Amino acid sequence: GAVSAAALMLGANGAMASEGCDDGEMVIKFSHVVAATGHPKGDAATMLAARVNKEMDGKACMEVFPNSTLFDDDKVLEALLLGDVQLAAPSLSKFEAYTLKYRLFDLPFLFSSLNAVDTFIQSDDGKGLLTVMEDVGYTGLGYWSSGLKQFSANKPLLLPSDANGLKFRIQTSDVAEAMIEAMGGSAQKLAFKEVYGALQTGVVDGQENSWSNIYTQKFFEVQDGVTETNHQLLAYLLVTSTEWLNGLEPEFRDQFMKIVDEVTMEANASVAATETKNRQNIIDAGGKIVELTPEQRQAWVNAMKPVWSKFEADIGQDLIDAAVASNN
Ligand code: LMR
Repeated sequence: GAVSAAALMLGANGAMASEGCDDGEMVIKFSHVVAATGHPKGDAATMLAARVNKEMDGKACMEVFPNSTLFDDDKVLEALLLGDVQLAAPSLSKFEAYTLKYRLFDLPFLFSSLNAVDTFIQSDDGKGLLTVMEDVGYTGLGYWSSGLKQFSANKPLLLPSDANGLKFRIQTSDVAEAMIEAMGGSAQKLAFKEVYGALQTGVVDGQENSWSNIYTQKFFEVQDGVTETNHQLLAYLLVTSTEWLNGLEPEFRDQFMKIVDEVTMEANASVAATETKNRQNIIDAGGKIVELTPEQRQAWVNAMKPVWSKFEADIGQDLIDAAVASNN
């Protein structure tokens, strides 16, 4: 398919060859799956490329491939190890094959706000999780947060029991699967680029995602409404190959990492505003948003609480306690 053709093309040209780059520049290809603009990840990737291309001109050349045009999230992790791309930012839910620790981030109702997420990812526990996959070849360069997730379906969802018998698209996450089952629904793992079509044709009845994804992918157009559950985090790991990172000249690497750190801080600081804007964009485009009463929301919290105990052993109680403490 298109993906393997792209991979072959990269291979044939050699990893360093690229049309927009000058001779002698280190080409840094960044592949992701979301909209190029108006989305926390799309905007952060653009910002990172702009700074690298300006400040490291002559030394480095970054190219961004948005919208799954180069790889989807499963393939991009293989592509990093093959050297076909150098950067990716899959959601933390997509690393199950490489570490079970990231199940932490998927626990339903773990973080009460994006501020709590910021506190945790800047803590020693949060930073420590960046390097847990180095034995399998990946180093996390930072967390790019996105938003809390909301449920949508082809019928109104006010209580978790409304999801009874419905099929939901999920990311490749066993925590998400357990969560859907706790609601009495069934879960189907699908690549992001297939979600709109699956909702439209009724292959699945519902999905869960950030306001930014629900708006930019137009999921709201093929759903009855979106229920504001804020039930789970969507955040990304900006990730590279450990071998690539360790192979960089120290001076190059320091300059690159300084830019990465600054862009990460700046991007995370504007995430909440982007999410709020995309929530409003859905309303302005005629989409329906269902707000829950405190009692209704508590029913969702209660239904999902049993999910935690299933994954405690994989994650570690200390880490769960540290993440919970960041809510205070
Ligand atoms: C999803 O698959 O729903 C998300 O991980 C997509 C993304 O990158 O936001």
